[in-house]
Amino acid sequence: MDIVEEIRSRQSDIDEMILGFLPGDEKLTATLTQAMRYSVTAGGKRIRPMLMQEVSGLFGEPCKALPYFMAAIEFIHTYSLVHDDLPAMDDDDYRRGKETTHKVYGEAMGVLCGDALLNYAFEVAATSVESETAESVAATNDGTENASNARIEALRAVKALGILAGKAGGRGMIGGQVIDIETEGKAIDMETVNAIHSMKTCALIEAAMMIGAVLGGADDAAVKLCEKAGYELGMAFQIRDDILDVEGDSEVMGKPVGSDEKNDKTTFVTLVGIESANRAVKEHSESAITIIRSLGGEGTFLERLMEYMIYRNK
Ligand code: IPE
Ligand code: IPE
Ligand code: MG
Ligand code: MG
Ligand code: MG
Repeated sequence: MDIVEEIRSRQSDIDEMILGFLPGDEKLTATLTQAMRYSVTAGGKRIRPMLMQEVSGLFGEPCKALPYFMAAIEFIHTYSLVHDDLPAMDDDDYRRGKETTHKVYGEAMGVLCGDALLNYAFEVAATSVESETAESVAATNDGTENASNARIEALRAVKALGILAGKAGGRGMIGGQVIDIETEGKAIDMETVNAIHSMKTCALIEAAMMIGAVLGGADDAAVKLCEKAGYELGMAFQIRDDILDVEGDSEVMGKPVGSDEKNDKTTFVTLVGIESANRAVKEHSESAITIIRSLGGEGTFLERLMEYMIYRNK
């Protein structure tokens, strides 16, 4: 199977899994749940849950909490896009090949839908402990190996929750969006652009890879290496996004080109030009792949996925 087909097949598995976690309609708040489903099912490459799953596989057997966290990180990522597209932020009308959530449901519902997806992400992730591990701890609380395994899984899930909350928050993704917005229309240097990228985009990719590692049973040193790989991959990914914003095809990407120029953003591309930006993508992605190889990822689907993320057209 070629990499694009392989990714597509995993995407459809992830789509089906995520769909199963989406909330049903409640009588008085059906608009909210419909907006949540609209934004999540619009598509998206599902890169973050896919990375989480693949990194986890480097370290151990699939654990029960993994799908919960895969859904959670995609809900958080989707909320970040719903809010990113709002008129108060990038003011974009088109995302994942469809009209943006606020265009369809109105601005207030765009804000609320994002809020709800964020909270729901943590609800789903926390349920992984509640519904699976805690039960098995209780059922096997007899000093057996099963009981201690269940406890270990619960502790890993709590650690993963902390990573998710931190990386998605004010010192991570949200912080990056703050600097991105506050520096619109201003001349900023490379250090600031790097800081924006590292927070708004790397943070969630770091979280995906770290959580995969934690749930897979990696030790602290390996989790740190996954954080570094996530940083390098995230930098490459966002610089590629900045390049696509200039020379991409909006039909293929499912979102507009020229959004950065419209909003007078300084990006990697405006600072150093397309050629240097391409070079930086290559360097960052090579660093990321080197780390993943050192963790036993050589020749794996993960390695090819990381390459695809960099040379993608969407
Ligand atoms: C878009 O992320 C925002 C960035 C961090 C560049 P993706 O390119 O992963 O968007 P979807 O999920 O595929 O729509
Ligand atoms: C957004 O960066 C990153 C987020 C945290 C949502 P962009 O504003 O460049 O993302 P796109 O190009 O709209 O997907
Ligand atoms: Mg933005
Ligand atoms: Mg944007
Ligand atoms: Mg962009």
